[in-house]
Amino acid sequence: MGWGIKNRLSRLIQPDGHCFFMPIDHGYFQGPTSCLEKPGETIRPLLPYFDALFVTRGVLRSCIDPAIDKPVILRISGGTSMVGKDLANEMITTSIEEVIRLNASAVGLSIFIGSDYEKQTLKNLSDTVNICENYGIPVMAVTAVGKELEKREARYLALCCRIAAELGAHVVKTYWCENFEKVIKGCPVPVVMAGGPKCETEREVFEFVYDGMQKGAIGLNLGRNVWQNPSPVGMAKALYAIIHEKANVETAVKIFNEK
Ligand code: 5RP
Repeated sequence: MGWGIKNRLSRLIQPDGHCFFMPIDHGYFQGPTSCLEKPGETIRPLLPYFDALFVTRGVLRSCIDPAIDKPVILRISGGTSMVGKDLANEMITTSIEEVIRLNASAVGLSIFIGSDYEKQTLKNLSDTVNICENYGIPVMAVTAVGKELEKREARYLALCCRIAAELGAHVVKTYWCENFEKVIKGCPVPVVMAGGPKCETEREVFEFVYDGMQKGAIGLNLGRNVWQNPSPVGMAKALYAIIHEKANVETAVKIFNEK
């Protein structure tokens, strides 16, 4: 791995080896997602608690203060919508020139393994790695399931993460699942966990995040369970404590309740 990639990764992954990325990219296929109608306002109170922002170029340019002191992971795949035929039919939306112009510290894109567009999205990943490595820019692969949330189980996610790593992803973002250690064991690059749709209780979120960290994830890329919670700051503080302060579930619940 070249110096530029290592340097950029060191902005994203903190000296403790862990990271808490804040995704606000959902609008690229969901439109004005609940609580993300004004992304700049949504993230303002959360700034002290996350390490990097996962965002499209459009929202970055129109809603985020360029003086923000947080590295950016640019979402560069898209071209589909919730009301379209197939969420998997993605293309690369953002040029390497734009990635560099926006001073992104990494890029992120989805792969849809097992879908009709498996090869296309894996080509998106391979091409992106080929281009980004010329410029020292890390690539985060997102193992996406579209609307098929039931796909989130260990055998499938382990397959997706391993394929992403084999094609050159520097970091893989996937879902937590039962037997998550199987996913980690088969993936030779760092894994971060996404949250998925909002859970019923805060404890449920803390439990899976804590379990995933114990099993070897390096951190989180978790949005809706933070900013759709009635106390987004409480959630961000509690999750920060699990990721960076070795807090357990009980401590996280306590931190959340203190708000
Ligand atoms: C959506 C994404 C999100 O970044 C990812 O799903 C994490 O967000 P959440 O915790 O809300 O699921 O890739 O396109």
